[in-house]
Order: sequence, then structure tokens, then C-alpha cells
Amino acid sequence: NDLGVVSVGFSGGQCKLGVDAAPSALIEAGLLNQLSTDLGFTLHYDHTIHYYRDILPTEDPDHRNMKRPIAVSAVTQRLSEQVYEHASQGRCVLTLGGDHSVAIGSIAGVARAVRERHAGRELAVIWVDAHADINTPETSNSGNIHGMPVAFLTGLARSDHPSIFGWLQPDQLISLKKLVYIGLRDVDIGEKRTLREHGVKAFSMHDIDKHGIGKVMEMALGHIGADTPIHLSFDVDALDPLIAPSTGTPVRGGLTLREGDYICESVHETGSLVGLDLVEVNPSLGGDSVGVRETVRAGCSLVRCALGESLL
Ligand code: ARG
Ligand code: MN
Ligand code: MN
Ligand code: MN
Repeated sequence: NDLGVVSVGFSGGQCKLGVDAAPSALIEAGLLNQLSTDLGFTLHYDHTIHYYRDILPTEDPDHRNMKRPIAVSAVTQRLSEQVYEHASQGRCVLTLGGDHSVAIGSIAGVARAVRERHAGRELAVIWVDAHADINTPETSNSGNIHGMPVAFLTGLARSDHPSIFGWLQPDQLISLKKLVYIGLRDVDIGEKRTLREHGVKAFSMHDIDKHGIGKVMEMALGHIGADTPIHLSFDVDALDPLIAPSTGTPVRGGLTLREGDYICESVHETGSLVGLDLVEVNPSLGGDSVGVRETVRAGCSLVRCALGESLL
């Protein structure tokens, strides 16, 4: 029962400070101990929170409306190699972010390893988030790259600039057909057009209200199909800000703690989880220390559920 772990203290995909402190907060709350002691994992972890200071550029001007493009590109490229290293040895890989731009690296690494290990098989991605994060540089209003990772990972956004995502190769990309969203409630106009145009499977909060999370997970996993390797990318802002306030772009009307945990438990039950991200926990936001503690606790719970913690 092997698990690769990569801690990414990176905040350059958005403008608020503090999200780089999430890995240390999660680990100090006991997450890795719980995974090894309670869940019995053998951790493959370098005991390092990577800030990638040695590869951050001194100058990083906006490019095609993207903020800090060279930093985000360099960090995600390096992360993709670290994650690939674990995944190519058959380990499930946990990436602790950081903002959601880090998923460019984690998913690129897992997608390549899955293709190599399973004769060209394609990775499915379950993206749990209030946001679709599928803006292209052209459709984004903010220019923040944490709102764009899905566009780069699916090839909707492209670049031939080697130091601005030009490193992404076809074997690191994922298919829009094997992408499923859960929890959406703040999707930009351009993103809605993209989702509609490509018929992307998406379950909004409306769908969860209507069908219940049990049925939604049945439909989500049914869309992906049995025996397909799954990467779960969980943005903590999918949870309601009442229970997870410490995040950079909170949106009211989100998942309950149990709905979040249930999503993770259902993915675990497939036996197909190969990669997991927990992102956008920002311990310097969310008001008082209670809010921070609750957000960190929620994050730990989501990860444990995805990795097999059961209630009974
Ligand atoms: N759609 C908005 C944007 O493009 C918000 C994205 C928020 N993303 C996130 N990973 N929290 O800027
Ligand atoms: Mn989000
Ligand atoms: Mn918005
Ligand atoms: Mn996100």
C-alpha cells in the first residue's frame, strides 16, 4: 500500500498570499501521520515542502493576459516530473497544494504515467470545485492561472512558448470526454460556452440538490466507466464557506462536509484512484482561528476519505 506525496507551497496561480502555507498546516494537523498510522500507507515522501525558489524567475511580466506565466509554468513542469516519478512506479500520488494551478503539474505527471503503464489508456479526472477552472488566457477576466488549469490540460489552451507551458506534451493531456465536474456554482460566461460546446459532464450544486450526492456520484462514475484510472482534483472551495472559509475564492451555497467526504469515499470505492490533489486551503484567510482550523480539518478528512478511511 504505497503512496507518493508531494508538498507544493506555491501561490503564483492567483494573487492572495498564504495558500503556499497549506502543506505545512495540513501536515502539522497530522495528515501524513494519519495516512501512515491509521490507514497503513507506506509513504514515499521527501519531507520537503517545495517552494521551488531556485526556479522562480526574477521578472515575470504578463503574457497573453496571464499573470506570472513563467513561474507557474516552471513550477508545474517541475511538479509534473516529481509526480510522474511516483506514478510511473505504480504509486497513487497525493499532491498537497498550493493553488489550483498546481494541478497542471500533478495531472500532467499522472496522465503520462497512466499512458505508459496501461498501453495508451486515458486518465479520467474528477474535478470537485465551485469553479470550472477552464478559462483560456483569452476568456479569463482575472488573468489568474488557477482559473485555467483545465484549459491547458485538455489542450483547449495552447502555447508554443517553451517557458510558458510549451513543455506540455500530448501524452500529458487529458480528454474532455473523461472529465467530470462536481460542485460547480461560479462559472464564467466563456467557461459556460466551453462546457456546452464540448458537452463536458458537469454536476452543479443544482444537480446535487435535485438528485442527492449518492445519485450524482453514481452518474459521475458511470460516465467515466469501470476500470478507468481516476485522478481526483479537490479544490477546498467546493465545500461551503461556512465549513471551509479559509480559501481565496469562496462561493456561498457549497457542499456539506459529508457530501465532500462522500465524493471522496465513492472514488475510493472504485479502486481506480491513481492521483489526488488537495488545493486552495489558505490558512491566512477565513477570519478567526476556528475557521482556519475547521478548513484544515476538512481538508485532512477529504484526503483520508479518498484514501480509504471508512466510518465502520
Ligand atoms: N473563474 C475565476 C477566474 O478565472 C475564478 C477561478 C477560481 N479558481 C480557483 N482555483 N479557486 O479567475
Ligand atoms: Mn475553486
Ligand atoms: Mn466569478
Ligand atoms: Mn479550482
